Amino acid sequence: MKFFLDTADINEIKELASSGLVDGVTTNPSLVMKSGRKFLDVVKEICEIVPGPISAEVISTDHKTMLAEGRKLANLAKNVVVKVPLTPDGLRTCKALSDEGTRVNVTLCFSPAQALLAAKSGATYISPFVGRLDDIGTDGMQLIADIIQIYRSYDTIRTEVLVASVRHPIHVIQAAKMGADVATMPPNVLKMMFNHPLTDKGLAAFLADWAKTGQTIL
Ligand code: G3P
Repeated sequence: MKFFLDTADINEIKELASSGLVDGVTTNPSLVMKSGRKFLDVVKEICEIVPGPISAEVISTDHKTMLAEGRKLANLAKNVVVKVPLTPDGLRTCKALSDEGTRVNVTLCFSPAQALLAAKSGATYISPFVGRLDDIGTDGMQLIADIIQIYRSYDTIRTEVLVASVRHPIHVIQAAKMGADVATMPPNVLKMMFNHPLTDKGLAAFLADWAKTGQTIL
C-alpha cells in the first residue's frame, strides 16, 4: 500500500519524507490556504522534495478553463498529478488530460457510481472521502469496499483507489485490509501509526536492563 501525505506544509513533508515512508503528496485548495504559500511555488517545492506523485488541484469549474489550468499544473514538474473534482466538467477534463498522457486524480468522490464514471474517464486515481462520509453518519469505509469490488471486477480498469479524508490509523488499516492502493493521510495520522504504549514500555525496560550490564555497542 502506498502512503501519501495530505498536506501542503513543507516542513511536515520534509520531516516525514526523510522517514522513507512517503510515496507521494496530495494537496487541495484548503490545504494551500492553510500553508499561506503561493500555490504554484509550493507545488514545485513539494515536487522537488518527494519524487512520487504530487496532486495539485484545478480551481475552475468549467471544462475549458480546467483544462488550461490542468496543463499549466502538469508543466510544473514531471511528477505532478492534476486533481479535478467529480463533476461532468471535471470528468471531461480528466478524459482530455489522460488522453494527453497526464495523470489525473479525481477528487470529492462520495459514491460507487461516481467512482465508476471516473474510471471510465481514464482517472489514474479516484479519491473517495471516508472521513467526510463518517461525519454525516454514513460508513465511509463501505464506499471503499464497494469501489474495490467494482474496480477488481474489470481487468480494463486501471484506476487506483486513493483513500482520502483519512482521520485516524484505523481508516488506514481498514483500507489496507481491503487492498486499497493508496491512503493519503494528514501528517499526524502517519505519526500516530508508530505509537503503541507497549512499545514505549518495552523499550524503557530493555534500556534499563542494558544500562545494568555496563556495556556499549560502539
Ligand atoms: O485532500 C482531500 C481530503 O483528504 C480532505 O480531507 O479531512 O478535509 O475531509 P478532509
